[in-house]
Amino acid sequence: AMAAERGVAMATCTAPVNIAVIKYWGKRDTDLILPINSSLSVTLHQDQLKTTTTAAASRDFTEDRLWLNGKEADVGHPRVQACLREVRRLARKRRGSGEDTAALSLSYKIHIASENNFPTAAGLASSAAGYACLVSALARLYGLEEELSEVARRGSGSACRSMFGGFVQWQRGERPDGTDSLAFQVAPEMHWPELRVLVLVVSGEKKPVGSTAGMQTSVETSPLLKHRAEVVVPERLAQMMRHIRDRDFEGFGQLAMRDSNQFHATCLDTFPPIFYLTDLSRQIIALAHRYNAHHGHTKVAYTFDAGPNAVIFALADTVAEFVEVVRRSFPPATNGDQFVRGLPVGSAALSQELMAAVVTEPVPGAVQYILHTKPGPGPQLVDDPSQHLLGADGLP
Ligand code: DP6
Repeated sequence: AMAAERGVAMATCTAPVNIAVIKYWGKRDTDLILPINSSLSVTLHQDQLKTTTTAAASRDFTEDRLWLNGKEADVGHPRVQACLREVRRLARKRRGSGEDTAALSLSYKIHIASENNFPTAAGLASSAAGYACLVSALARLYGLEEELSEVARRGSGSACRSMFGGFVQWQRGERPDGTDSLAFQVAPEMHWPELRVLVLVVSGEKKPVGSTAGMQTSVETSPLLKHRAEVVVPERLAQMMRHIRDRDFEGFGQLAMRDSNQFHATCLDTFPPIFYLTDLSRQIIALAHRYNAHHGHTKVAYTFDAGPNAVIFALADTVAEFVEVVRRSFPPATNGDQFVRGLPVGSAALSQELMAAVVTEPVPGAVQYILHTKPGPGPQLVDDPSQHLLGADGLP
């Protein structure tokens, strides 16, 4: 279907964002993007957060071109080129074996258009979804059917985990060539139907130090990171797999919070130190702990990546109450009616006791909005041709 004698061959895919509960931080090979430790993440639902990418090829295209959110971008970016090269290499290998004779010419130039259904500037891990989607769309275009997390990894480490839905492990691997540094699904999204995710979007600002540069400085200077990779993560990974298997929120939540905190501790241990947590992050952390203490067990768990947004895990029956706690703690400045987005959230009345114990000093406007979502599936093929991001002429 993707092969065209004439005209433009096209394929469109969508891919999800993921949030790590055992964090990836540090590479042992910066070119191949091989990590110093395995990591584990939850894939978020594409109804709320997704990238859509169309890849097209034609004998009439004169150069490779790329558009991100409608604006032309540099297709020569080394990581984009690495993904393109690897997909083409796999396609060539397939042709060589004579499996696919009607296939698209590998000499054709390609056009790629990609967009997010969320603001890129909100710092919602768009590179993971972006590269997972790029690789998925290219693979479709060339008719590849193999496992492609190894290719997505070349775009961004965390992108390899967005190649699967549900609960996903990226195994660090041992080989220097990276052929065993792959992602695989630990459990599908239906495994834990009550699990919910709240993204507290706190800032549209760009992060101070990018992950790529930040983690390299950490590898070079932080003894804590070395200990974490060698000793702590292997134990935690095994524990986290058990908590997910058992749907044990207490264990899952506790360990997710501890691992987020240790990641940020390795940032402080980096020299010069890196700070991703802000005063607001610390207020959210304290709020979650007060809320859990009030209830006498772990009802919510936070995790923070290399940016100021907070991601909260909770079970469905906790969402309405905790959202109300966040609303009282960070009263919306103007967008009161758009404060909660995504999956519907019921209303909850907070008791006097809960208010007194949990909501201390409100900070108006500090949280822009809350996105309510849940675990979701991996990359999807978009069948409907009207959904392509490129026209019949191969332009956006
Ligand atoms: C803190 O995958 O963005 O989000 O491989 O250099 O592209 P590169 O880094 P990236 O790092 C993500 C780091 C993290 C933790 C995680 O997602 O595991």
